[in-house]
Amino acid sequence: MNHEIMFGVPLFRYHLDSAEIKKIAEEKFTLSQGFPIDETPGGWDCTVKSDFDNSQANLYTKYYDGVMKQFGKDVGLESGTAMMHESWLNYYVKGMNQEEHDHLPSFYSGVHYIKYDPRVHEAVHFLNPLFQIYSCTYSLTSKICRGEDALNAHPFSRQFIIPDVKEGDVIIFPSFLRHRVNKSETDVPRITCSFNINTIKGSTRRVFSQ
Ligand SMILES: [Fe+2]
Repeated sequence: MNHEIMFGVPLFRYHLDSAEIKKIAEEKFTLSQGFPIDETPGGWDCTVKSDFDNSQANLYTKYYDGVMKQFGKDVGLESGTAMMHESWLNYYVKGMNQEEHDHLPSFYSGVHYIKYDPRVHEAVHFLNPLFQIYSCTYSLTSKICRGEDALNAHPFSRQFIIPDVKEGDVIIFPSFLRHRVNKSETDVPRITCSFNINTIKGSTRRVFSQ
């Protein structure tokens, strides 16, 4: 192999017991006989139920102080902590999905899997931002090998990656990274809390005001 990979896309992983926020989310879910939270913006081309319209109220940030503190350290902040700027809940049952999207202009974004059973649910699909430069090679290789073999030969050329997660896991990724949630195949609710990190204490690069 006569090439090297110059840059990579980071994925940060944490774990946070989701019992308390799950209770709150399930109560919201139950109180309204199905879908209390239907504030998904009209511009979204998906069927997920969310309270994104109220995301700037940042109702759920209080659960993530520890994660933000650790994440701040992990991205190299010498002082201060990463600041969660927006947070919202997402509900999926059978047939519900979220289309491919990104979270620009935020810096980083995250997902907390607060009700999630890996036996019936599927995690987010991250799309390879460099896929176009590999797709030609992949197509050519596929003519020679089985598709699976081609993927094995060039793991960095995969079109998408589905991270292995379990309930309570928190993943944080760069906001530019496109991702989607495939249509749910089960009636067992899948609940996540998503968030954006727009301001980082100690940084003057980007500070949004309301
Ligand atoms: Fe997203």
